[in-house]
Amino acid sequence: MSFGLGHGRELDPGHIAVTPAELPPLPDAIRTDPEAGRVDPRTWFPDPALPLEIEFGSGKGTFLVQQGALQPDTNFLGLEWAGEFFTYAADRVRRAGLENVRMWRGDGVELFRWRMPSAIARVVHLYFPDPWPKTRHHKKRTVRDEFLKECHRVLVPGGELRVVTDHPAYWDWMEDHFARWCDPGGVEGIRFIRGAFETVESAESGEMVGSNFERKYREEGRDFHGAVLRREM
Ligand SMILES: C[S@@+](CC[C@H](N)C(=O)[O-])C[C@H]1O[C@@H](n2cnc3c(N)ncnc32)[C@H](O)[C@@H]1O
Repeated sequence: MSFGLGHGRELDPGHIAVTPAELPPLPDAIRTDPEAGRVDPRTWFPDPALPLEIEFGSGKGTFLVQQGALQPDTNFLGLEWAGEFFTYAADRVRRAGLENVRMWRGDGVELFRWRMPSAIARVVHLYFPDPWPKTRHHKKRTVRDEFLKECHRVLVPGGELRVVTDHPAYWDWMEDHFARWCDPGGVEGIRFIRGAFETVESAESGEMVGSNFERKYREEGRDFHGAVLRREM
């Protein structure tokens, strides 16, 4: 099979890919016990003992390929639900020979909600998430209370959610959410501590992350906004 993004070249995600079909079905017990369907993604890597970082919405996989090569002692899990991007990114990772990178094909929000165990990730990266600008689509935005709650649970204490966007209205929305979740009172008894976004190590000069969307939007002269939310111990 060939895909448009490969410009006619055969793309092969190979062993980099993990798909919902490879997981056991969600048990009925999940109705009363949210822990019943958990699957540990650290077992998807050759060395499950390495620290885990998760990229939400990996697109063409540029961050994973660049940062995964710089940090061979960290496992990176990319989440991507769009089949064409997933296949392109996983093929890139496979060709780069990065055994510390795996890609999940599916809805990352659902994966967090139903499958991810608690306190397993050192970092969750969220770069240039889809802004869903129309009011009736705001419920599709990744940054919502439910997602922040699941992120807090999945991060190890002291772990970080790192976010960058180019979209002013989405940034305002994020600021509102972050302010509530970083308030000393927190939300539902849990909270984050906010810090400044630090440039990603593998980014090129003048970049914050060095992802495809950042490079595209930089050419258009857009401004970028970033933040780090650290899970309180
Ligand atoms: C605007 S792109 C940014 C891609 C990349 N992070 C970058 O900066 O170049 C957002 C990506 O997130 C993916 N995405 C959005 N919601 C998702 C979800 N719930 N689960 C998995 N992937 C998602 C989209 O398919 C898309 O590839």
